[in-house]
Amino acid sequence: MDITLPTDVNNQVVPTGYNALGKARIITCERGKVRLATDAENVEVTALAPDLFRVALFAHGRAITYDSEAVLAREWDGEAARISGTEEDGVVSLSTSFATAHISLNPLRIGFSDVSGRTFAVDDPDLGMGWLKGNEQAALIDIPNPLGTLGTPLRVYKQHAADEHYFGCGERTAGLDKTGSHQIFWNVDPPRGHTALQNNLYVSIPFTLVVGGGKAWGFFLDSPAFSEFDLADEDACRSWFGTASGDLVYYLFCGPTPRDVLARYTELTGYTPLPPLWSLGNGQSRFGYETADEVLRIARSFREHDIPCDTLYLDIDYMDGYRDFTWDRSRFPDPEGMLVELRALGFHTVGIIDAGVKVDENYWLYREGRDRDLYCKTTEGSDYQNAVWPGLCVFPDFMNAETRSWWGGQHQTLLDTGIAGIWCDMNEPALFIPLNSTMPPGVIHAVNGKVKYHLQVHNAYGSLMSQATREGLLRLRPEQRPFVISRSGYAGIQRHALLWTGDNSSTWEHLAMSIAQLQNLGLSGVGWAGVDIGGFYGDTNGELLTRWIEWGIFQPFCRNHAEKLTRHQEPWVFGEPYTSLCRTMLKFRQQLIPYLYTLFEQCHRTGAPLLRPLFWSHPEDSSAYTVDDEVLCGDVLLIAPITKPGIEYRYVYLPAGTWFHFWSGERLEGPAHILAHAPLGQPALYIQANVALPLGSPMSYVGAEKTDFLTLLLYPAQGSAISYLYEDAGDGYEQIQGVYARRTIICEVVEPTTIRVTLGVREGTFTPERKYLRLELRELLTVPASVMLGEKQLAWQYYPELRSIVIEVDEGSEEQVIQLAFH
Ligand code: GLC
Repeated sequence: MDITLPTDVNNQVVPTGYNALGKARIITCERGKVRLATDAENVEVTALAPDLFRVALFAHGRAITYDSEAVLAREWDGEAARISGTEEDGVVSLSTSFATAHISLNPLRIGFSDVSGRTFAVDDPDLGMGWLKGNEQAALIDIPNPLGTLGTPLRVYKQHAADEHYFGCGERTAGLDKTGSHQIFWNVDPPRGHTALQNNLYVSIPFTLVVGGGKAWGFFLDSPAFSEFDLADEDACRSWFGTASGDLVYYLFCGPTPRDVLARYTELTGYTPLPPLWSLGNGQSRFGYETADEVLRIARSFREHDIPCDTLYLDIDYMDGYRDFTWDRSRFPDPEGMLVELRALGFHTVGIIDAGVKVDENYWLYREGRDRDLYCKTTEGSDYQNAVWPGLCVFPDFMNAETRSWWGGQHQTLLDTGIAGIWCDMNEPALFIPLNSTMPPGVIHAVNGKVKYHLQVHNAYGSLMSQATREGLLRLRPEQRPFVISRSGYAGIQRHALLWTGDNSSTWEHLAMSIAQLQNLGLSGVGWAGVDIGGFYGDTNGELLTRWIEWGIFQPFCRNHAEKLTRHQEPWVFGEPYTSLCRTMLKFRQQLIPYLYTLFEQCHRTGAPLLRPLFWSHPEDSSAYTVDDEVLCGDVLLIAPITKPGIEYRYVYLPAGTWFHFWSGERLEGPAHILAHAPLGQPALYIQANVALPLGSPMSYVGAEKTDFLTLLLYPAQGSAISYLYEDAGDGYEQIQGVYARRTIICEVVEPTTIRVTLGVREGTFTPERKYLRLELRELLTVPASVMLGEKQLAWQYYPELRSIVIEVDEGSEEQVIQLAFH
């Protein structure tokens, strides 16, 4: 179909110094790519896949190149795209089986449509793509020839349709819907407080998922330099996307569902690796566990209090003077012994590593990096220095492949000592002079024999440190899945590390903010993420901690962490009733691991985040767009956390479908706004009808009493649903050879008198270690007359308090159909 694109430029609306592209000539049209030239610019529009286009503007004769820290190098099969139209027509179209890029030539403007007739991402008629005069970037680092080296600031203006809403944008402050906001992409270690006024934190992912009219599209600006999205803020009729230096390269995802957009985005930038299973359990951390004795005391306290915890985090206190890859032997005299003891208690231990390397002639790491010339440089050629935790530091040039490989190798000693995973911190990089600053724009990086200024690559520094770490762990311990957590990152970070959202505060506001923050991260490709539960800065209290844990147990990464000198916030410190409530919730987290692992595998394979906004499966439901104080964990569970003190009731929006209140079993029909009663310990939690929730043992450490079955919890209701269970060895890579087990579970209420549960054929060669599957069907109004597996009668038990039937099924790998008949 054709869409009308404008032909004239109205200078009245052009921002000062902005030069919109003028008339374009066609240079070549081939293999899914249209190359164009205007006066001083080259533009390429490429169809990479039926629902994926790339548009690039190389101004002032800059070379055409798509080098990227985010996008995986690969060949896309764009040849199937059809190119029609000629220079005389004034319009060229590039069509795939699903979508068309409409390129109008005078002036050059680009818009998109799909086979359903929807138009989207249409260039603003007046402004389109263009560049801004002004050499601010060059002036910052005082270099000549800014056009050639750095390029000018570049932008693309798109029309904004009134019903469009913007989500994603990576790690953000404030709410879920970013419409009407101006987003900055520049990684910083922000001052304490994380407020809506400063929306950029430690991570930059210049990607937005746009939802409107029941359909989605996505926009990714591939630039690790300072970038901005103006999302219908300056002008309600248009949005702009810009980078301060380099080239304007953007990827346009045509959807049409949020799931489709995320699938392509992660195919482009990389999938989240499968985590080691141990890392899904509860974790405990604190800046200020200062001695081995204290760490061991904390570990034992978890066991004494019967509170699940699988991972302990060692903050910088373990190091000798905050020197990376060292131990303070006065406070941690026998690290190996401590880690063996922790393992025996059932803990994995993760150690922090900071980006800054202490300047110290007696420190082997410092000397080695300096002698091999692996640190970031000043323009004068000396190693750039600034202060971080250890005092004066130098900074590994992670842009340089040689540095990455050297850094990765350093982890050997930590692994030999028994460390299970690595926590990369201060990698924006964060500097203390002045406080909360980052590297000056003129610092020099060596990239494949070329030089780059820091301002050109700033946002990628944290990702590259994470990449160095992950690749190092993979080389050193190839049989195990690396566990790497990072504070900073750029688009694509999900393939190197999971993210935590840095130094939040122990406030109700930050509990509330975390709900939208993790959803937007998930919508930006980072499905594996979490916030510091209980809050980092400031003192928490029993109620805040318990409420935070009530929702924190659904976070893909579940860890309690706090700052030095704050009140301790381990789950038992506030006494009763909090200790018992935290214990119950954290045991529930452990039980959820088979479900979470199933979701992780989906995320790994398809890019679907674990935490999903309510509109994920209902993009046509515009009431869901504004709900940023609720979240879906997979498709099964809806969590509506309490975000204020002293409150037991809150409004909840339930999207379409039949839902059951998890604690009372009350049945509710969505879409509906309801008032939920959520006393402490019973968060507003709803489960979808007919969908199986796999639940494992509440405790997983060695010596703990474990169940020898897996429960599939179901709430049958009229209709049917399909759900999944994925299992494998939980570590290593045998699943790639097919050693995994995946099966579908279909639950249908076929007529009022029959419930049928079909366990599909088990795919893969992995045999789960357990005695049986336990089907638990809740909220049944009567007891069944019979429960049959084919011709065979199955035994069952009825539990009147939950109105539930429990059936034990001997698991096979073939299809099993269990039929419950009622009178
Ligand atoms: C940074 C980290 C925080 C850590 C502290 C000390 O502030 O964000 O998690 O505890 O440094 O290492």
